Amino acid sequence: MTPPVPDDVLADNVRVLASLGGNQSKAADVLNISRSALQHRVRAAHRRGIFPPEQPEPVIEVEIPRRETFDADFWRRKHSAIEKQLAEAEHLVEQLSGLRAIDYQIPEWIIDTRHTVLGKSVIGCLLSDTEVKETVRVYLACGRNATETARLRNLPRTRINHHLHIARERNLIPPVEPEPVIEVEIPQRPVVRVRAYNPLNAPDAPSRRVVFFSDTHVKPGMAFQHFKWIGRYVTENRPDNVVHPGDFLECESCEFHTAPGSATHSRRPSFAEDIESGVEALEAYHAEIPIGEIPHDIIYGNHEFRIWRYEEAAPNLKDVLTLQLEQMFARYRWRSTPYRQWLFLEGVGITHVPHTIMQKPIGGRYPENTIGNQSTHSVIFGHTHRYNHLTVPKIGVNNSITVTNVGCAMPYGYTPPYADGATTGLTYGIVDMTLRAGRVESSNFISMLDLQRRYGK
Ligand SMILES: [Fe+2]
Repeated sequence: MTPPVPDDVLADNVRVLASLGGNQSKAADVLNISRSALQHRVRAAHRRGIFPPEQPEPVIEVEIPRRETFDADFWRRKHSAIEKQLAEAEHLVEQLSGLRAIDYQIPEWIIDTRHTVLGKSVIGCLLSDTEVKETVRVYLACGRNATETARLRNLPRTRINHHLHIARERNLIPPVEPEPVIEVEIPQRPVVRVRAYNPLNAPDAPSRRVVFFSDTHVKPGMAFQHFKWIGRYVTENRPDNVVHPGDFLECESCEFHTAPGSATHSRRPSFAEDIESGVEALEAYHAEIPIGEIPHDIIYGNHEFRIWRYEEAAPNLKDVLTLQLEQMFARYRWRSTPYRQWLFLEGVGITHVPHTIMQKPIGGRYPENTIGNQSTHSVIFGHTHRYNHLTVPKIGVNNSITVTNVGCAMPYGYTPPYADGATTGLTYGIVDMTLRAGRVESSNFISMLDLQRRYGK
């Protein structure tokens, strides 16, 4: 008689069998007993009320299509690299939720965890056309200004850029049309080119050498050897022109300064004596330089003009006295220019003294400055008996003028009675100049003392 199997052994045999899923063959092998013995023990255990411990619920694995198991957690687990874009991921979830509601077919590549294009690209593909189109509408309305679009849409600029990127991929942004070209036919006007005149750029402009001697103030009783010196200088140096800028004669016979009946007034020479003194001076001069060989000009000064004033006061003498003056110079082939008028040589204006707009001679201590400020061309003048030569800068193409006072050609140190006691600084001599292109190119003052040393033998 086989002894009964203890209860604990039966319980162990039932537990092993249960752990192996009821496989009696495997359990018999594990327990090292025969399969029939195991069956006997199981039946004995059931009779004694011995059952295996409770087993957990069986796991039923169901393969669910991926599109149905897709959720935000899935993306967070699989793609930690885009965790910094969780906000976009949340937006993605919303998009997906909405799309699933209308049975949207999620593209297979999106849910492929091995796909390398993640993050923004995924989100972009899921953006609805409506949102992108709204961005495009605002973008076009504000002149393709992305920053302004972001402001109007109340979205980050990066979001707008992304929308626009997607829109371009979907061909939602029309290409920029080129500006229309409007061709207008403009009738051609004739072009006239005028060369700006600047003497500095005209080295080939003609030049003219001119000897000036001015304000000789010839009067009866004066010694005229200095006229010979001047004549010799002209003969030796052969200038192109000789110009006397006025006050050749003193013309005391026609002066109005002294009181009629006074001693000075009564000592005045006659008009004939004044003319005779002039002839005497011209004879001395032309004894050295033949008449008519070199052009000579006289521009009458205020002292010659005394004769015209005298005739004006005595109408019955009209043209009688002035004719004699004109004939005197004409006899020696000197051309004459009226008082206050200009003689132009090479574009340089020559006159006895420039006048103000009130017809007064320009005077003062430095008349050259006043003349230089007011004149529109280079000026050569006399009258003040003080040699001076200025180059005056000007705003303009012809960027400077010259102003030259030629001084006086009286005997050295001689002061006419009307100037006695006045501030001096007078210069006695002649001026040898080169005129060119509207300016005095060079100006050489030769003192009467130099002339005397050179020719006074
Ligand atoms: Fe004068």
